[in-house]
Amino acid sequence: MRNLFWQFTVLVIAVNAILAAIGYPGVLWSLIILGPIILLGIQDIFQTRHSILRNFPVLGHFRFFFEEIRPEIHQYFVESDTDGVPFNRQQRTVVYQRAKNIRDTVPFGTERDVYAVGYEWVNHSITARRMEAKDIRVTVAGPDCKQPYSASLLNISAMSYGALSQNAIRSLNLGAKLGNFCHNTGEGGISPYHLQGGDLTWQIGTAYFGCRTKEGQFNPETFQMRAKTPSVKMIELKLSQGAKPGHGGILPAAKLTKEIAEIRDVPLGHDVESPPGHSAFSTPKGLIEFVAQLRELSDGKPVGFKLCIGKRREFLAICKAMLETGVTPDFITVDGGEGGTGAAPLEFTNTIGAPLIESLILVNNALVGCNLRDRIRIICSGKVTTGFDIIKRLALGADLCNAARGMMMAVGCIQAQKCNTNECPVGVATTNPMLMKGLVPADKSQRVYNFHRNTERSVCEMMGAMGLANTEDLRPWHVMRRVSVSEIRNYSELYEFLEPGALLNNPPESYARAWNAASAESF
Ligand SMILES: Cc1cc2nc3c(=O)[nH]c(=O)nc-3n(C[C@H](O)[C@H](O)[C@H](O)COP(=O)(O)O)c2cc1C
Repeated sequence: MRNLFWQFTVLVIAVNAILAAIGYPGVLWSLIILGPIILLGIQDIFQTRHSILRNFPVLGHFRFFFEEIRPEIHQYFVESDTDGVPFNRQQRTVVYQRAKNIRDTVPFGTERDVYAVGYEWVNHSITARRMEAKDIRVTVAGPDCKQPYSASLLNISAMSYGALSQNAIRSLNLGAKLGNFCHNTGEGGISPYHLQGGDLTWQIGTAYFGCRTKEGQFNPETFQMRAKTPSVKMIELKLSQGAKPGHGGILPAAKLTKEIAEIRDVPLGHDVESPPGHSAFSTPKGLIEFVAQLRELSDGKPVGFKLCIGKRREFLAICKAMLETGVTPDFITVDGGEGGTGAAPLEFTNTIGAPLIESLILVNNALVGCNLRDRIRIICSGKVTTGFDIIKRLALGADLCNAARGMMMAVGCIQAQKCNTNECPVGVATTNPMLMKGLVPADKSQRVYNFHRNTERSVCEMMGAMGLANTEDLRPWHVMRRVSVSEIRNYSELYEFLEPGALLNNPPESYARAWNAASAESF
């Protein structure tokens, strides 16, 4: 191709020179188009970074162009309603419809293959009833909590200011205010955009943003001061998140604005590191004592921790620490390996951390097995976009659900998957002020409110169809799964669910090894 390019170049120059010489100077106008193409080709051949451009000057650029627009082409022309990832078109569409409060019915019948292995559903009842749409609420408060929080069934999962734009955070918080549900700050601290009147869960990560010393250690004084913020209803200590468990992060000095430095309590002009693990504790007992300290400093607000499950033994060790100290968190947030993030290494996203269903069942089993379940609420996150997603998770042991990407879609995310480039075309996951301008909080907050309300309404309608009056009545056997062409199992047949106190007396064989190895003194 390189030779062809040189032949083309020589030909263009020769033809232009000859025609101009014999009295057709007008031909030189063609160089307005051909000249830049030739210069681009010459640059392509002499650059050393891209082999494809050296070998296919000019034409090679089409590859980069199509690579760039591939996600859009795929989303608009290739993917079917049910095969897009991470969220398929049907999941995205129902969020948009419910957020816009427009028709959310589907015509003609399901597009799912109901005979495919993995197909899931819940069984309805002949005693189906109409269940009025209502805001289902769950009180989060263990025995040591002095300021119980009445939480909605569905809340906004942790996403920091910085990962999301000012206008996206504003929209989420205003939506939470309109719908009376809770908005998790993410580990980046409490920004002014979080303070639009919606309830907050203040998340504290390994860098203790907003409550750290100069050296990056936990600072009880600033924690106590900020925990008093009236909108802060709960406090969540982040141990890990599903999309990148055990991975810290670095905010480069170049991206650290004065505003973010102030919100996070970090000095300007330096890289800011979020370590992979906590420095405030190093043992299961230490973690539980830290939870108690945070609760005391926050004057008894509900305190919990968020984690993606890794080693079972480590979670059981935390349960042993609760039993030994008599101290329990008010809630535990379980995040699935399928969870989202602004940016993560591929290996962490794809191959570290247990998926939500197994994690949820483990956490529920461990707490039930230790007779601790009635003291602790289980919150879960991992691809919640519909009423069915919530019902399934509640049936498997959760009390509440959080949604991150579902809520992003409610504020206009189109799954462009550019969160890690700062080029989010709809102004949701970017700090670029020009792009952020496209997102109008007055409109998008209403969408967040609508999405929440319509999704809860769908939960109520499904509960009615199942003949159930309360979400607490949901059980694992309500959820069915096709496991082969001719076999169906409900979740209580697929997974083991422990009886109360089962771990304390004679742990079942499936748990015995991890339980016996677990120690409150070390992870
Ligand atoms: C843009 C973005 C930023 C996030 N930031 C945080 C964070 O600061 N802290 C955290 O614990 N989880 C964070 N998460 C994870 C979510 O809170 C949530 O646990 C996960 O995405 C699963 O929920 P989903 O499937 O509804 O998105 C983030 C997710 C996204 C998409």
